[in-house]
Amino acid sequence: MRDEQYTGKPQTAEYEQDKQYMLRALTLAKRATGFTHPNPMVGAVVVKNGKIIGEGYHQKAGEAHAEVHALKAAGENANGATLYVTLEPCAHYGKTPPCAKRVIEAGIKRVVVGLIDPNPLVAGKGIKMIREAGIEVTTGILEKECAKLVEGFLTFIKTGKPFVTLKSAMSLDGKIATRTGHSQWITNETARMDGHKLRALHDAILTGIGTVLSDNPSLNCRWQPEDVNEYAVHQPDVIVLDSMGRTPTDANIFKQINRKVYIFVSSKCEASRINELEKAGAQVVILADTTNTTDTLGTTDTHDTDDASAIKQSGATKAQLPIEEILTKLAELGFTSVLVEGGSQVIASFVEARAFDKIVTYIGNTIIGGQAALGAISGTGIDQLADGVDLVFESVEILANNIRIETYLAGRSGAYVHGDY
Ligand SMILES: NC(=O)c1ccc[n+]([C@@H]2O[C@H](COP(=O)([O-])OP(=O)(O)OC[C@H]3O[C@@H](n4cnc5c(N)ncnc54)[C@H](OP(=O)(O)O)[C@@H]3O)[C@@H](O)[C@H]2O)c1
Repeated sequence: MRDEQYTGKPQTAEYEQDKQYMLRALTLAKRATGFTHPNPMVGAVVVKNGKIIGEGYHQKAGEAHAEVHALKAAGENANGATLYVTLEPCAHYGKTPPCAKRVIEAGIKRVVVGLIDPNPLVAGKGIKMIREAGIEVTTGILEKECAKLVEGFLTFIKTGKPFVTLKSAMSLDGKIATRTGHSQWITNETARMDGHKLRALHDAILTGIGTVLSDNPSLNCRWQPEDVNEYAVHQPDVIVLDSMGRTPTDANIFKQINRKVYIFVSSKCEASRINELEKAGAQVVILADTTNTTDTLGTTDTHDTDDASAIKQSGATKAQLPIEEILTKLAELGFTSVLVEGGSQVIASFVEARAFDKIVTYIGNTIIGGQAALGAISGTGIDQLADGVDLVFESVEILANNIRIETYLAGRSGAYVHGDY
């Protein structure tokens, strides 16, 4: 809590009250987790004479903003009331008219804002418009919490790329599978359910073809909040990095409804494969090639179909898909946050490119051992420790005898971490 950002009087009764109403607005905002991209989640509360008279949250991009819902619920009673909103009201005409204008028209007396919107279209202009109308504005209340809620959006706005979280479940010795490729399960049910919650908090899940062939995962979100009013769980879209289009057309990723599956292929992928994948329901995205390598996969491909084997046996030259281009494409598709769920090569590519914001690591209470067992991150690795990735630890938790570690990339440009936003 960055009290110094609060322009009211910290530690006063008014401040404590503001905090409570802002917490309520944050709770409301979370209900739309995963549904608002490329917009942020925003919650709003209208309070008069110590009573909440209107509540609302932004439910979906293109639809009414949080303030509008809350003011509508308050009706004419909003005249003379205080509005609490997690993110600065907008000042521009987008798909909807400016919220700042709506706030002024409603006769609101005071506005309490959690976080100033870094979107250049807003960036203080909403607050300025409201202040110029003679309305008192207080900023910075629960600013850090409001920023963390929309860390994906903040990164998206500041960098033009989605917020990337790398997730791995590993043994204490850093292995994500045994030497035979066995990986289910290294972590316990509690840690795995936390991983499902992590899925719910992202717009999309990204994995590599190695993982699809070896595990045939569904990559759906099976987390249910204890309080169903807390979150409406969405199914994040799925992205598979698969240069040659080897994804089996009967793969489990195609069996989940209410989401899209994108297969990112290289220009070397056969048109017939693209056709088959599209028929299976995939949206195929063709990317430019980077480095060409001869196919060396196979050790973990236990879910090979005839199609995939044929491509493997052809000894075709493969191209590794370029991470920066992938992220640009994901931003164009409107994803503000992406959860990268391995495997080892895909995670390595994101780490090598320093193309990530956060890492969430689950450590199971086991040791796998063995040189041939897959480590969490493959690739070439570094020569000198000075070249290592600099990380900022955020939290460590014990989850029923497993461990969850949350880390940010130090010095990244973009968004919330330890007060940097
Ligand atoms: N414990 C965990 O958290 C966890 C999570 C996921 C997976 N796993 C395990 O990890 C293993 C699979 O990992 P893996 O390393 O073999 O496969 P992977 O990382 O899932 O997929 C690697 C493949 O993705 C394709 N690819 C395309 N663009 C890429 C890029 N820029 N960077 C990297 N790869 C790119 C390449 O195949 P093409 O050249 O054919 O495109 C590459 O061979 C399995 O054993 C699975 O069980 C564990």
